[in-house]
Amino acid sequence: MVTQRVLIVSAAINLCIASLAWSAEPAKLAEACTGCHGQNGANTEADVPNIGGYSKVYQVLTLEAFKNSKRPCPETNYRTGDKAGTKTTMCEVAKELDSKDAEQIAEHFAAQKFVVTPQQSDPVLAAKGKDVFQKSCIKCHSIEGVIANDDAGILAGQKTAYISRQIEQFTAGTRPMSLKMKARFEKLEKADLDAVIQYLASFK
Ligand code: HEC
Ligand code: HEC
Repeated sequence: MVTQRVLIVSAAINLCIASLAWSAEPAKLAEACTGCHGQNGANTEADVPNIGGYSKVYQVLTLEAFKNSKRPCPETNYRTGDKAGTKTTMCEVAKELDSKDAEQIAEHFAAQKFVVTPQQSDPVLAAKGKDVFQKSCIKCHSIEGVIANDDAGILAGQKTAYISRQIEQFTAGTRPMSLKMKARFEKLEKADLDAVIQYLASFK
């Protein structure tokens, strides 16, 4: 009898482990994202940020912000896969994830390499943008914002359309930012921020 109980308990534990193993299939979960962000979190869509190589912390916080509609959610659509053409928003996508799924997906993309997007940029503005960036931004976005461990997104070589939209949202106050970053933004003219955008686009 005791042996039988032990057997049942151990079978139950095995089942639990098996289901944990199944739910712990991060690449499978990440398929919810690849129709837009691309395999390994890199894509060639001008308005969809590359997220491969982003830190886990930043992704988890960002998904939570989208889930709670703390960040603006522009309408977008699936670019590839079964749902290609279907409209949705990042907020809708994030609402489908529980916190465990979000963590696993974030881990999956954090393990990929960030892909820089080669883009056009104005060299004169980019040089001005470099000065602005080094004075006002580099403290938190170290080495031109290429380091995922800043937990603040990756800026250098990110899609220009995406970066421009974020800067517009920060300036308009529709996307929340820390008080310290806000203080930096308030000291800058639009022309300074436009120059920073060109600088960030100049990475190849
Ligand atoms: C239907 C297309 C679509 C799908 C599916 C999608 N995304 Fe997005 N995602 C976008 C777009 C477009 C943006 C940029 C939104 C903006 O401009 O503010 C974005 C933004 C993000 C950002 C913010 C990047 C940054 O630099 O702050 C993260 C993180 C992200 N998505 C993660 C995910 C994850 C994880 C999934 C899967 C669970 C996913 N996305 C599924 C289209 C999509
Ligand atoms: C005090 C630290 C700090 C300073 C200074 C700072 N930032 Fe940030 N920045 C952050 C953090 C933290 C985030 C992530 C915010 C979030 O979680 O949504 C961020 C996010 C961003 C993003 C969005 C990244 C993404 O992937 O969506 C952009 C663009 C940005 N910062 C640009 C700038 C620029 C340009 C400057 C200089 C004018 C600057 N920041 C100065 C801390 C800072």
